[in-house]
Amino acid sequence: MNRACVIGWPVEHSRSPNVHRYWLKQYGLEGAYEKEAVRPEELEGFLGSLATRGYAGANVTLPHKEAALRAANSADQAAVAIGAANTLWLDPDGTLHASNTDSYGFMASLAQEAPDWNQDRRQITVLGAGGAARAIVYGLVAGGAGKILLANRTRERAEALARNFDAAVEVVDWDDRHTALAGCGLLINATSLGLKGKPPLDLDLKLLPADAVVADIVYSPLETPLLAAAKAKGNRTIDGLGMLLHQAVPGFERWFGVRPDVTPDLRAHVAATLEAE
Ligand code: ATR
Repeated sequence: MNRACVIGWPVEHSRSPNVHRYWLKQYGLEGAYEKEAVRPEELEGFLGSLATRGYAGANVTLPHKEAALRAANSADQAAVAIGAANTLWLDPDGTLHASNTDSYGFMASLAQEAPDWNQDRRQITVLGAGGAARAIVYGLVAGGAGKILLANRTRERAEALARNFDAAVEVVDWDDRHTALAGCGLLINATSLGLKGKPPLDLDLKLLPADAVVADIVYSPLETPLLAAAKAKGNRTIDGLGMLLHQAVPGFERWFGVRPDVTPDLRAHVAATLEAE
């Protein structure tokens, strides 16, 4: 029986068990998916003992994503470019591999909800410069995006992110985020603003074209104030749940040998656990 886990500190809030346990049941697989609360100073030791603990691999969440990448013996291109890992697996010889599936998750969600997102290669506006923004920008550039305007409260973080992508990413001041929406075909909130308990994203949508797609990485609540405002204007919206579900697919396939589907029923199942909070 294969086992996997999510490693975090704290780990209680993680949604990953809901997703992976749903799939284990759905596909009738014998397997288990656990939560492991691991202190930062104990991470390396924990990862070194994954096999003896009976794990085929793991998800890694805050604050361990950078350290997990450093601790792995090999890493894929996405993890290296993003500078963080969220998915680990062991080879039979004990080699620990690291991947970052957040960019895959975002791009798969985008492909599912707005398959025409890059039809006319219009400008894309991304807000935020943390780990999620890095993964998203990496995915967009790899997916053939045109110009990306990037705004972050702390401008230096946006500049550091942009440096990895040459001319594709142009940094704009956080105060200019409202005007950065003119002519944009896709707007992405990759900040934590709008999350339950945090202030909403303060953004004037006046200049946002009517046919632009608006995506939010925040999934709690599912309809953030940004998405509600975009919907009210008639824009198409993509909530953060799709990214959460799709990023789990490659890990599940590695650990349990079945490539799982992201279905409306899975969405409803995980959405119900969010609402129950
Ligand atoms: P993650 O790795 O999940 O993206 P993070 O690294 O903490 O998390 O990044 C959170 C993002 O939300 C950052 O872009 C952060 O801006 P800073 O780089 O300036 O910190 C943004 N953010 C959080 N609170 C914010 C606020 N009150 N106003 C504007 N941006 C905020």
